[in-house]
Order: sequence, then C-alpha cells, then structure tokens
Amino acid sequence: MLLLICHCRLYKSISERMYKIWIHPYVAFRFSKHYKIQKEGMENFNKFLNNVIDERTKAIQISKKSNPDEVSLDRLLEIKEENGENIFSREEIKEELITLFTASEDTTMTVTSFVLLMLGMHEDVQRKVWQEQVQVLGSNGSRNVQIETHHLKDMKYLQMVIEETLRLFPVAPLIIRKVIKDVDIGPVTLKKDVNLMINIYSMHRDESIWSEPNKFNPLRFTPEEKSKRNPYSYIPFSAGFRGCIGKPFAFVTFANRLHSSVHLEPHRKTIHHIQ
Ligand code: HEM
Repeated sequence: MLLLICHCRLYKSISERMYKIWIHPYVAFRFSKHYKIQKEGMENFNKFLNNVIDERTKAIQISKKSNPDEVSLDRLLEIKEENGENIFSREEIKEELITLFTASEDTTMTVTSFVLLMLGMHEDVQRKVWQEQVQVLGSNGSRNVQIETHHLKDMKYLQMVIEETLRLFPVAPLIIRKVIKDVDIGPVTLKKDVNLMINIYSMHRDESIWSEPNKFNPLRFTPEEKSKRNPYSYIPFSAGFRGCIGKPFAFVTFANRLHSSVHLEPHRKTIHHIQ
C-alpha cells in the first residue's frame, strides 16, 4: 500500500515536471519539491525491487527446476544463475523490471478507465459485452474466473470495444523517431537525421480514414472493416521494431479488469441518463 502511494506521487511528480518547463533544467529541478519526491519515490521503488529479486532468487535456488508458467523476472534470474554476473547485473535486471512496470501499469489502468467510461456512456455496447461474457464464461460464478488468452479468442466484441477505445484515446498519443536514411514518401522526402513526431491521436481521428471520427463505434474493427484500411492508419501500440511488446498481455489484463466490473447485468441508467 505504501509503495502504491509513493508510486502515485512519483508518477504525478514526473508528469508535472514534463509540463513545467521552468523545472526542466537540472539546477531548477534540484531545488524544487519534485527533486525530493522523486528521490524518495525511486528509493522506495528500489527497495521494493530488491526485495522481489531476493525472494525470487531464493525460490529459484531452492526449487532448481524451471517453471513452465514462469514470469520474465524468473527467466532473467535463471539465466543469471546459470551464467553468473557477467551476463546480467542486478542493476540491469532492475532496469528491465522498471521498464516493464512503468510501461504496463499506467497504460493498462488508463485504458481500462476509458473503456469503462465508454461502456457507461453506451448502454447498447455494455449489454453486448456482458452477453458475450456470459456466453464465453457462463452466467453464474464466472466472476472469479481468471481470463486467459484462450478465452479472449472468443471475446471478439470486447476486443473491438478495446480497439475502438484505443483509437479515440491512445495512451501514447505522440511517438518520436529519428530518420536514419533519406526516405521518399510520395512527394515528400524525409531527410536523414531529422527527428519526426508521429501524431497518433490525429491519425486516429482523421476524417479521410474514419467516417464520423469522434463517434464511438466498435464495429469499425470487424475483420471486414479492418481489411479496408491501411494497417498503419491505426497504431495505438506503435509499429515496427520499437513497437510495444506488451500488446497481448495488455488485452488479457483489460479483459480481467473489465470482467470483474461487467459481471452484472447492465444497469438501465447510463452516464447520459445520470447527467
Ligand atoms: C494499453 C496498453 C499499452 C499501450 C497503448 C502501449 C503502447 C506502447 C507504445 C505506443 C510503445 C512505443 C513507444 C515508441 O514507439 O516510442 C510502447 C512500447 C513499449 N511497451 Fe507498451 N503499451 C501498452 C502496454 C504495455 C504492456 C502491458 C507492457 C509490458 C508488459 C508494455 C511494454 C512496452 C515496452 C517494453 C516498450 C518498449 C519497446 C522498445 O522500445 O523496444 N506495454 N508501448
């Protein structure tokens, strides 16, 4: 719980610094309250990670056998056990964990909130999601079911709802790339060494690609509709070599978080009615 509070403060402080350009320079940041918050936050996070690594290392040393369901941390620690310090240092393993933690926690929580908002505003969609859940998991007792990848295959409508939510609210609305060689795109040449900002948010609401772009409509993501579009016109997880590695995990996480909220028959009142 303490870690969660520290982590929230840390995230809040990091994003505040992004917007407050006067504390971008290190000297100004060093004397602001954010320095203390971020230092404390990172110290707590480090303690937490050290404990997790110690616990898992002990467990692996005791069991000595690989677990087919092992998480990525266990795999990294096993490789380190087999090969010694020179393959991965403890600091490197911690850095990998920080990347995975920061890339997965905030993104999936934010998108889950947006999906819930969309379900609250669109009773018809909520009802279809619920019906699909009942069909796949059964009506009673399904609340405690852990949704796995194989369930997701049959939750086509839920996937479309998530995809449409990510179209309207991409959690990474801008990404940046450096051009490494001259590239011709139609009449435009992108010159080597230029920095490019790709505006995913605008692409996802471009009228030449999406009819009524501001309208929430999961049916844009049926296989037929998808096949009509250029696959690069929709890139909430970016694309190519540096694209997101967590997409499958993200979908299973959404399905589980939503399942625990959409397990009851939809209520008649939507956000519109309440307003
Ligand atoms: C809604 C959920 C998510 C969205 C929308 C999302 C989006 C993205 C995007 C757009 C990028 C590319 C950034 C860039 O090109 O500059 C990215 C990278 C990355 N994502 Fe995600 N992500 C999500 C969830 C996750 C999860 C659950 C994980 C881990 C389990 C994860 C791990 C990563 C990692 C490690 C990278 C860096 C890949 C690299 O640079 O090689 N993401 N993500």
